[in-house]
Amino acid sequence: MTGRILSGKTLLVTGAAKRLGRAIALAAAENGADVAITFRESEREARALTEELARLGVEALAIRCDVTDEQSVREMVKEVGSGFGGIDVLVNNAANYETADFEKITVAQWDAIFASNTRGPFLVSREALPYLKKRRGHIINMGSLGGLRPWATHAHYCSSKSAVHMLTKVMAKALAPEIAVNAVAPGMIDLGEKSAAAFMKKMSKQTPMRRNGTASDIAAAVMFFASAPHFITGQILAVDGGLGL
Ligand SMILES: NC(=O)c1ccc[n+]([C@@H]2O[C@H](COP(=O)([O-])OP(=O)(O)OC[C@H]3O[C@@H](n4cnc5c(N)ncnc54)[C@H](OP(=O)(O)O)[C@@H]3O)[C@@H](O)[C@H]2O)c1
Repeated sequence: MTGRILSGKTLLVTGAAKRLGRAIALAAAENGADVAITFRESEREARALTEELARLGVEALAIRCDVTDEQSVREMVKEVGSGFGGIDVLVNNAANYETADFEKITVAQWDAIFASNTRGPFLVSREALPYLKKRRGHIINMGSLGGLRPWATHAHYCSSKSAVHMLTKVMAKALAPEIAVNAVAPGMIDLGEKSAAAFMKKMSKQTPMRRNGTASDIAAAVMFFASAPHFITGQILAVDGGLGL
């Protein structure tokens, strides 16, 4: 992506100390946005990332937040709003992923996945609304191919992401015309984990594009929605190399 398409904008990404959130934060800074990231346990990585973001010539903030905790979300959004004077783009990225046989999923596991993956994006969006409305902003939810296709050993995760897709559509309608709301649904993304190498190889062969996705594929899709016309709203964009077809 070239040019500084987000120059003068502020972007908030939850759970962005590492992996996809980190790539999204860096892409936004490269595009000129001031970036606030949140972290829960990865403080060291979050601090290092803010230094990296600042070196790109933008303002950067890192704030601890548990997206399952209403008070924590409220305080974090307030801190970003006052630190940056507003929020133009919210990326609901923080989530949890877990593999479990259907009959072994406990109520606690089910509720924990929904609390972070579904209630989290709802809570952060609700609290950020006044700022986003003022700026006629964008919300981008991170969905999943697992919210579009059933994965047998991920009933709670798939259901939580499917709910995020519906939440995206409901919010797009409820928050129009001030705020555009869309979702990016990543497919198989290779983040270089050695333990996943054999599985990744197998998946790349099953993918029409003959490779797995990269963090920059996902960041590019998020940058598209972050800078897209408001007329594009309520969309779920699978970024999966055709795997879901
Ligand atoms: N990676 C993939 O292949 C893939 C595929 C499909 C969809 N996605 C979606 O894309 C997004 C990013 O994926 P990812 O793999 O980079 O995510 P991830 O590493 O699983 O999680 C991102 C961050 O979420 C934070 N988090 C978890 N629970 C939290 C809570 N209760 N409060 C606040 N933060 C919390 C963690 O922060 P701390 O480390 O600071 O605790 C974690 O670093 C997620 O929504 C994911 O579901 C990813």
